[in-house]
Amino acid sequence: MPLSFKHLTSTKQLTREDMDAILKVTEDMEKVYNTGGNDLFKGKVFANLFYEPSTRTRLSFDAAMKHLGASVITADGLQFSSMYKGETIEDTIMVVSQYSDAIVMRHPEQGSADRAAVVSSVPFINAGDGPGQHPTQAILDMYTIYKERGTLDGIKITMVGDLKYGRTVHSLSFLLGLYKDVSFTLVSPPELKMPEKVTSFFAEKGVQYTEVEAIEEGLDSDVIYMTRVQKERFEDAAEYERLKLKYILKADHVRDRDITVMHPLPRTGEIDTDVDALPNAAYFRQVRNGVVVRMALLAMLLGKE
Ligand code: CP
Repeated sequence: MPLSFKHLTSTKQLTREDMDAILKVTEDMEKVYNTGGNDLFKGKVFANLFYEPSTRTRLSFDAAMKHLGASVITADGLQFSSMYKGETIEDTIMVVSQYSDAIVMRHPEQGSADRAAVVSSVPFINAGDGPGQHPTQAILDMYTIYKERGTLDGIKITMVGDLKYGRTVHSLSFLLGLYKDVSFTLVSPPELKMPEKVTSFFAEKGVQYTEVEAIEEGLDSDVIYMTRVQKERFEDAAEYERLKLKYILKADHVRDRDITVMHPLPRTGEIDTDVDALPNAAYFRQVRNGVVVRMALLAMLLGKE
């Protein structure tokens, strides 16, 4: 089931029909994964370029590619690439296109993924472009909500923390906003509010949202999506220190509630480890979903069933 686009740089590219199709293919891929993978991409070479730190996205793409029989080439860290010597993103991607059948890239600059996609001759996937977008994380978040709650229509979601720089909440908002009767409670300090690019999308689509400052005002939801304050986006270290642990989710907040706890990870203290043992703590199941979602996206972008 191919997608209507060759490159994935933003969740704004997706329609509800695309998202529904991805959920279906991911369910099929979960069966492939649980039975040891297959040879869909035998003989293919995929490139993973990670110019910013990553554990989950880098390793889950690597795992997804290998579960489908592909070989993987990698580049880690700007300082070890020729971009450090001044080579442009465009030249880098045109070079890597000669070596590979698909390219995944994380880069610290917002907009880098769009620049790469313009020149890539093979399918290109954005694995995070600075504070811009992280579409594959958002798609795995959607799959997780669907699996945990049984639906996406009507979901009430609370997003907590760094809504300004947290690219995962931007990407996820654009996808959830495609579904019926979804509503958002946005919990952040005034300095880290959801940017206008997202709230104007809500207004345009008629999506309900409220902005509050206390986490307790967001506990009457189906999902609570915690985020890390993005240290790497702050110019003022003192400002980061002041805001970094404004919100800490504790077991008492969610123990007796029918609320699914999610986090894109890594966490840096904003979910107490006591929450981990609760049945509604879904963040490690969310991580596992990253592999099967990325298997599905690779298959669909490369036009394979
Ligand atoms: N969620 C996420 O993007 O994690 P990594 O930064 O470890 O890839």
